[in-house]
Amino acid sequence: MSDVLAQIDQLAGQANSELATVTDAAGLEQFRIKYLGSNGSIRKLPELLKAAPKEQKAALGQRINGVKNQVNEAFEDRKGQIAQGAVAGRDAIDVTEPGRRPQIGNRHILMKVTDELTELFARMGFSVATGPEVEDEFHNFVALNIPQQHPARDPLDNFYLQRSDEATKRRSDEGPSTELLLRTQTSTVQIRVMERQRPPIRVVIPGRVYRPDTVDATHLFMFHQLEALVVDHNVTMVDLKSTVMQFIHAYFGPETKARFRPSFFPFTEPSAEVDVWFEDRQKWVELGGCGMVHPNVLRAGKIDPEEYSGWAFGFGIERIAMRKYGIDDIRNFIENDIRFLRQF
Ligand code: DAH
Repeated sequence: MSDVLAQIDQLAGQANSELATVTDAAGLEQFRIKYLGSNGSIRKLPELLKAAPKEQKAALGQRINGVKNQVNEAFEDRKGQIAQGAVAGRDAIDVTEPGRRPQIGNRHILMKVTDELTELFARMGFSVATGPEVEDEFHNFVALNIPQQHPARDPLDNFYLQRSDEATKRRSDEGPSTELLLRTQTSTVQIRVMERQRPPIRVVIPGRVYRPDTVDATHLFMFHQLEALVVDHNVTMVDLKSTVMQFIHAYFGPETKARFRPSFFPFTEPSAEVDVWFEDRQKWVELGGCGMVHPNVLRAGKIDPEEYSGWAFGFGIERIAMRKYGIDDIRNFIENDIRFLRQF
């Protein structure tokens, strides 16, 4: 009897360990045919009984049934696991696959461009200055030679801040304006630099500016400018033009075409606007304005226009980044779409 028993146990052990290696439906079917099908070795176990002595048949038969039930149950269990995808196939872990690189963020493209610009100007002898984004009317308008009646001061074109009743009352008493607003241009910092530094002045000023514009592919309610201010003895328009051309050729490439168009700004005289040619799109892209600092602006900065002259420019950093990296919609910069941001 022990012989036959051993045979049964061995077969059961073999079936169970084989079942453990089955990972898919095809393997299950092979297993079923081999062990449980009509010719399967478990199905055929009762044949062993024929040769067994009569008095052992009952005990052996019980054992055979037990094994049959156990293997059938194990088979059904395995089938369920595979159906649920709970069994990892042999290929589920590919040890030759390269490791997954942890995702570390990167700096925003506008911050990178800003650094590229300030570094480029640093090589031309410019230092970096900054100023507040919440400004008073003196720095945003008055000192920049923008008169009270000028349309630029229209409340609809500016983000004015709500003040306390007392501040509003003071305003109506016709003292100096105490209105505050989000600055509309980085030119405000020209004044702040002149207030704290004597010529020679040679600074660039990167920063955010705010305007209640309707958002579209080329306008946002907030954007960045790079302002420049140079004040010294005998500064002329030649210095302005050659510095701007040097910047354009260094940043966009030596072949880049650029043009100066006569323009008007209250804080410069004469004034010009600067465009660079965008070969890929076959069009001019406007970078911003520039000009010789108006004597009234120098005076507001307590600098004698008889002794000193200066030039300034204010260029849009988004415009520069769009031209440099072929970005066609300014909204990309603030939408935080990781697929866009990751490219730079
Ligand atoms: N502040 C002007 C603007 O935001 C741009 C500008 C024009 C700045 C001429 C300047 C300048 O410094 O000289 O539209």
